[in-house]
This record gives sequence, C-alpha cells and structure tokens, in this order.
Amino acid sequence: MNYPHQISTLEQYDIAYKTSIESPEAFWDSIARNFSWRKKWEKVLDWNFIEPKIEWFRGGKLNITENCLDRHLLSNANTPALLWESNDPEEHHRVLTYKELHFKVSQFANVLINNGVLKGDRVCIYMGMVPELAIAVLACARIGAVHSVIFGGFSAQSIADRLIDAHATFVITCDGAFRGNKAIALKEVIDDALVACPFVKRTIVLTRTRQPVSMIKGRDVWWEDEIRKVETHGNPECKAVEMDAEDPLFILYTSGSTGKPKGVVHSCAGYMVWANYTFINVFNYHPGEVHFCTADIGWITGHSYIVYGPLSAGGTSLMFEGVPTFPDAGRFWDIVDKFKVNILYTAPTAIRSLMSFGLKPLEGKDLSSLRVLGTVGEPINEEAWHWYSDNIGKGNCPIVDTWWQTETGGVMISNMAGVTPGIPSLATLPLPGILPVLLDENGVEITTQEASGNLCIKKPWPGMLRTTYGDHERCRTNYFVMYPNFYFTGDGATRDMNGNYRITGRVDDVLNVSGHRIGTAEVENAINMHVGVIESAVVGFPHDIKGQGIYAYVIYSEGTHELSLVRQDVLKTVTRLIGAIAKPDVIQFVTGLPKTRSGKIMRRILRKIAEGETQNLGDTSTLLDPTVVDEILKGKEV
Ligand code: WTA
Repeated sequence: MNYPHQISTLEQYDIAYKTSIESPEAFWDSIARNFSWRKKWEKVLDWNFIEPKIEWFRGGKLNITENCLDRHLLSNANTPALLWESNDPEEHHRVLTYKELHFKVSQFANVLINNGVLKGDRVCIYMGMVPELAIAVLACARIGAVHSVIFGGFSAQSIADRLIDAHATFVITCDGAFRGNKAIALKEVIDDALVACPFVKRTIVLTRTRQPVSMIKGRDVWWEDEIRKVETHGNPECKAVEMDAEDPLFILYTSGSTGKPKGVVHSCAGYMVWANYTFINVFNYHPGEVHFCTADIGWITGHSYIVYGPLSAGGTSLMFEGVPTFPDAGRFWDIVDKFKVNILYTAPTAIRSLMSFGLKPLEGKDLSSLRVLGTVGEPINEEAWHWYSDNIGKGNCPIVDTWWQTETGGVMISNMAGVTPGIPSLATLPLPGILPVLLDENGVEITTQEASGNLCIKKPWPGMLRTTYGDHERCRTNYFVMYPNFYFTGDGATRDMNGNYRITGRVDDVLNVSGHRIGTAEVENAINMHVGVIESAVVGFPHDIKGQGIYAYVIYSEGTHELSLVRQDVLKTVTRLIGAIAKPDVIQFVTGLPKTRSGKIMRRILRKIAEGETQNLGDTSTLLDPTVVDEILKGKEV
C-alpha cells in the first residue's frame, strides 16, 4: 500500500464504500488525519441541503500549500513536482522539484504580498499553460487569496463579467500564450476587459511570447521585475497563512441553464481531502509515477488533477502548453514516450480527434510506460473507448471513465484503476462517500436496481461546492430546489442490475462541446446582441469529434447585408461576447420559432430537426403556429 487511504482491492473498496455511507464522520475523520493541519478539526461534518449549509472539518486550521509543498520537503525535496513540456517541441522542457516549486511559490507569494494582495482578496488568473500558472495558483493559496482562473479561450467581455462578479482587484496574466502555431495576445484581452473594471488595482504580467503589450503605469507590472524586487530582500521564504477549513480556496466560473455563468466556490480543507483522495484512488497512483492530465488549468480538471490532487500526494504532474495536433497528431505520444508517462488522463473529444488521423502518428512511439488511462468531461462512445484501449493502452491499461463536475470538486462516479472493473462507456460505481440516486420526473427516488432518471446525490461529500460566489440563493435554486434534500447534478443516468451508472448527458439547457460546458441561454444572449437579430434558439446536435455541436436558429430582420455576411457577423459577435469556444457550428436563419401558445420555445422539436430528423418530430399540435416547423425543415441545410 502506497498511501494509508489507498484502496487496492475490490474487497477494500466494498468495505470502504460501506463504512463511508454508514459512518461518514468516522470514515473521513480517519482519512483527514493523513494531512498536515495546524489545528485539528472539532466536528467532521455539519450539513443540510435546505439552505444549503455544508461544513467539513469545522474548526480545523491548515494551508493547502503546506500539504502540497512543505510536507514533501523532508523526504521528497528532489522529486519532480512539475514537469513542463513547451508548445514548441524544440524548446527545452522544464522540471521543478518539490524544493524548487516550494521556493518559487514562496517567492511569488511574496510578490503578491508586496503588491498589496491580502487574505480573502480575489485574484483573477488568465495565463497560458506555463509552470508560472501553477505557481500563481499556489502562491494565492499560500497567502489565503482566492484564485479564480479563467480559461485562455474566453473573451474580454467574459473576463470583465467574471471580474465584476468576483470583484477581483488583482489580475495575473501573460503577454501572450503559445498554442499550436498561434501566439494568443492574452494581455491585450485583459486590457480590453479592464476598460470595464477600474477597480482592478494591479496586473502582474509574465513574459512568455514577447509580443508587444501596453503596460500602464501604476497598474501593470512585470512578473520578472517583481521577482527581482523580492530577491533583493533576501529570504524568499513566505510562511503560509493559516486558513480555516471552510475558508474559500477558489472560485471557478461555469455555465448553467441561465445566461450568466456562476462562480462555484470551493473550500480549503474539504476540497483538498477530496482532490487527494480521488487522485490516489481513481488512478491508483504510485509514488514516483508520472501523471499527465491534458486539461487546461482553466478548468476544474486542471485544478484537481494537475495541481492539487497530484501535489498533495507528493506526485509528479506533467503540464503541457500546447495542443494534441501540433506540430502533428503524434504530439501526445511523443510526450508519453519522452517523459515515460504512467497515467494519461484526457477527454473523449481529444481521443476522437486523434483517432481520425489513423495509426500512423503512433509509429515508432514507445507507449509501454503507460499503466492507466483516463477520460473525463463527456460520455465516451464505445468506438473511441476501444481505440484508446487497443492502440494506446495496448490492451494492458485499465481505462477510468470519470464522471464529475466543476461543482463536485473531484471524481464522483468512476471505476478505480486495477481495483473495480471498467465497462466501455459506463462510469460504473460511485466512489466511497458518494451516494447517487436516480429520481423520476416527479422527484421520487427510483428504488429498483435497474433504473433510468435524473442523477442526484443524497449526502454531502468533502469536495462539494459550498456556494456560488456572492449569491448563495443562486446556489440553492440551481442545485437544491428542484429536488428538495438532494444535490441535483443536471445529468441524466441509467443504472444496471449491478449498480453501474451510465451517464446519458445533461437534462438541462447546458451543452457539452468538446468537454466544455456551455449554456444555451448564454449563446442565445450573445447572438441576440447582434443588431439585426430579433430572436434565437440554440440547441445541441451530435458531432463526431466534439461530442456535441452548437446549432443556432436565428430570426433576422431584413437588412442590407447578404446572409452569408450576417452569419460571419453573428459568429464574430459570439466570439467577442463569450469566446471562440461558444461559436455555433451551424446557423440557420428562420422566419419563426416553434412556440407553444404560452410563448415557450419548443426546443424538443428544434433539437430533432438539428439532429436531422424530418418525420418524427413528435406532437406539434400544441404549437401556436405549426407551419413554422415546415418552414424550418424546408430551410435546413443538408
Ligand atoms: C459531463 C468536468 C459523461 C456531465 C469534470 C457533467 C461526463 C459535465 C463525464 C461537467 C463522464 C463529465 N461521462 N459525462 N465521464 N464527465 N461529464 O463542470 O454532463 O466542466 O455534468 O466538469 O460534464 O462538466 P464540468
């Protein structure tokens, strides 16, 4: 056994699961003891799902970075904590041992202090995938500032919305970010965002691409200059700030069924315990192994399985700056070969995309170091699962299909590598501590073993969200009202006779495009901002690579521009307001939308049409004007 709380056999899983459900407090008490605390907790758990109030390890004091860094220094100082592979295969890779990472985090934490960042301040981080991104995240945590990382693909408007919502007074960014053959001008996007955010006091800018940037006196400073300042002060040591178990650690914005993204708030202690426990157990991590999670730190997967999970376990986490297809579709396999990667954790969309290049990119690549494969973010289709298993795992690697969400902090339902069996396209069994239930449309729990329904969680787990930033009521209405006394995931699922879960996808108005969550209402709001647009309706449709594509039906007023141009303008508008990730794949101009007599858009019909259905559109008799459906069908591009 490598970690005291690591599960190695099916029997151990059964026992752990049973104990975790029957005596959760005793179960998590014994696990939390394996961390480093300044002061032990007084009560393991206090909760209700009505307010909701969720408190884990009440009274406990700690700092997550002491668990991710300091405590490894005695025996693991020279173990690589972070490995970094550049976008450019010719650029030398970087290795940061625990000692070096501890030093750099302390140093940058001092930079933050020098720049006036205080415990509790919100710090927005908008950077490319460079080691300094992980350093910035950890430096915030070290001094108790609440980090809010924003994915590099979001637009200035999206950033401004988030900065305003979080009232973030500090920003950490880069001049630019390398991605494939592009250099993305991150600082320029920040500059545009800050026009709407005069409350931002300081922007710290790391040099990466060396593209020209504007630097505003009194607001913008260079990362490197600030480091030099703290260097000359001698001692780089920055003592970690003592945090309460329930103090917020970070905010991460995610899409829901309303037009406005919500700031999911995670706590210091519960999140740490959950990220660590799930990392060790889902991947069956052995000390010394190289863990390669291909996600961006801008998403929850990067937070939990590049930064906090692996580092809290004293593991070696590999960070990759680039994209899977640059300079060619063999890049992931080059990286696996070069760093002798043991665990590869990626998204089904990446697998499907790489599949489309055939087996040539695999030639000459030694993948024999791989022991465990994982997927996350969306359901994996059987074809992709088999391709991954046969060609990447060579039939020898278990694949963990991990179901979870930004709100859950870590994996919830998944097989555990080498411990519980995997089944193609099924997330399988809940992890210890997780009590999933399926509810029917009336909110009644389905108690038969084989079932299909809306997936809810009945009991709290340490890594669950605590609130949505600045608006607790929103958290309540989003997750705890539809099914009182349950946490509602927004996903549908089926359960087989052995208790294995298959996630069937979102049951709300949220799309999952290339594993990214996008609210249809958000895209509609953006489209409707275009001058000529009267109304729009956005639905998802099956997409070979992305899993789901975005299909927009748009009512456009007569104008002077030809529609092909308008289409481009609408796309540009969405890119400006949200980011390129939310751009519709298809825009169909229509003269009307199918609405009920009460004015509600019947998305069910639009979804069917987007899927290519022409005949069985279901009951259209309740429509205000059934002829619009024929119009839409006639106008559909084939
Ligand atoms: C979906 C990503 C099927 C699901 C960690 C969920 C999945 C949403 C899986 C959360 C999976 C995630 N199988 N569907 N293994 N993993 N999902 O917040 O719809 O970006 O609600 O978190 O992705 O997306 P989020």
